Amino acid sequence: MTFIIAIDGPAAAGKGTLSRRIAEEYGLHHLDTGLTYRATARALLDAGLPLDDELVAEGVARDVELAGLDRSVLSQHSVGEAASKIAVMPAVRRALVEAQRAFSVREPGTVLDGRDIGTVVCPDAPVKLYVTASAEVRARRRFDEIVANGVPADFLEILADIVKRDERDMGRADSPLRPAPDAHLLDTSEMSIEAAFQAARMIIDAARNK
Ligand code: DC
Repeated sequence: MTFIIAIDGPAAAGKGTLSRRIAEEYGLHHLDTGLTYRATARALLDAGLPLDDELVAEGVARDVELAGLDRSVLSQHSVGEAASKIAVMPAVRRALVEAQRAFSVREPGTVLDGRDIGTVVCPDAPVKLYVTASAEVRARRRFDEIVANGVPADFLEILADIVKRDERDMGRADSPLRPAPDAHLLDTSEMSIEAAFQAARMIIDAARNK
């Protein structure tokens, strides 16, 4: 059976960096599932289509190509906002989850990161991590990242945005963000990305040797 590592957690918790490192270390394929929601939202915005028509959004979601998804062209704030709106639609989720499951069984194994990987997409994954950090720490990291790129930023605005995004992701009826009962919690509030990676490695190695 394919070895699947499911990584979930709120926005800006460090899942992306951690997932890429893990995929590289173990030679696994990686899918950032947030990009599938972002690509759907971006295609709707680009085509001037409404963000509140579930059938239209589902049709666009079914056409999303997993190959070639690139965060650098999907990272805008407006795309993230639109993504979190269409992510509440069950038909959109069904379409994207189907594509994500098809990806998850690639050999020799996969790392998928998102909000509902351990609970819905791959509930039988042998390794589940729930990566989190306080909203303040996540806002601080995002603020530092933006400022490091020479762009001015407002910390309180970023914090308010993260809190709002959490509410939407955790409060929706279909597949809300929550740790799977068998997920290992990794709170990175006071942990470097290197320390988080080492902690994840111990969990993964223990599961692989079972
Ligand atoms: O991780 P991100 O910011 O790229 O995700 C964008 C939005 O997509 C986020 O608000 C929630 C949604 N999403 C989801 O509902 N399920 C996933 N597995 C991944 C992302």
